[in-house]
Amino acid sequence: MANTAFQPRVFSGIQPSGGLTLGNYLGALKRFTTMQNEGNFETIYCMVDLHAITVWQDPETLKRNTRELCAGFIASGVDPEKSILFNQSQVPEHAQLAWVFNTVARMGWLNRMTQFKDKAGKNRENASVGLFAYPSLMAADILIYHATHVPVGDDQKQHLELTRDIAAKFNHDYGVDFFPITEPVIEGAATRVMSLRDGSKKMSKSDASDMSRINMTDDADTIAAKLRKARTDPDALPSEVAGLAERPEARNLINIYAAFSDMTPEQVLADVGGKQFSEFKPMLAELAVSKLSPISSEMSRLMQDQGEIDKILSRGAERAREITEPILAKTYDIVGMVR
Ligand code: TYM
Repeated sequence: MANTAFQPRVFSGIQPSGGLTLGNYLGALKRFTTMQNEGNFETIYCMVDLHAITVWQDPETLKRNTRELCAGFIASGVDPEKSILFNQSQVPEHAQLAWVFNTVARMGWLNRMTQFKDKAGKNRENASVGLFAYPSLMAADILIYHATHVPVGDDQKQHLELTRDIAAKFNHDYGVDFFPITEPVIEGAATRVMSLRDGSKKMSKSDASDMSRINMTDDADTIAAKLRKARTDPDALPSEVAGLAERPEARNLINIYAAFSDMTPEQVLADVGGKQFSEFKPMLAELAVSKLSPISSEMSRLMQDQGEIDKILSRGAERAREITEPILAKTYDIVGMVR
């Protein structure tokens, strides 16, 4: 179906299942802000608390993490006036559409999801049903807004393909052109920020080693220390991207530098090629601190007024429901629910 029939609309979400990392910032948040400010799209951003509980969350910690994530969105430049900013559980149509999608998605499709396999680990029998059905809820998050574009990091690609499959099967089964076939937006130098300790692993909030990641709440000294101690090889930096091919740690640091400075890795290497890591790492640390410190201090300032954060979230949910209610009603009608 031609997506030109749909208004250009961006949806994306982040789980409040722990603190924000540099991966979340460069892979998602920074680009959320750019898309908001470019003005080509209506932008909708969500704290996906219903997704977070697919693995155990301490209730008080979840509340705190949701508010802190909201502060992280705003401190990174998401403006709750320009964008719709809310937490998922305050907009019940997400879960309602997810149920319909549970009847559209096939067991075989969900069985292939690598995130489920990774998160469930060896003990699949003990994983929650919610963790298995996670991608249906994610498809519902996106399609309950008829969103046309979804900015995410590279690790979400498979889920977005599934979202397209669910939309296509729904449209086909019911003989409608109702849901758009969403475009993933996986762009820029930092679609996959890697661990600072192991260049073959994704930077993640769930990694046991805190040295493997930069947290958005880390202070300047911690950020500098983590980058100074980041694993690297003994060679000087190459002048061209081809020279990074077998050097995942070097490539990661160059990509991080490129993403912070809005340059391409080629442009960064044109400037820093030939330098040793002992010279490059302090440059990267200075750049990272200059970009992240204002965000982390704004986050702590915002966190002092919880009432204000809660107001922003409930106002965002109200605005979201103006879109989701009619789309759910129409979906129920298509499916044959008496209303
Ligand atoms: P989550 O909460 O794991 O991550 C939020 C966003 O951050 C990106 N990201 C990264 N990007 C680059 N490098 C990394 N190391 C890195 N780590 C995380 C993720 O790709 C993501 O864009 N399933 C989603 C949440 C979700 C969602 C949605 C996203 C639920 N519904 C609808 C988009 C649309 C997730 O677990 O993201």
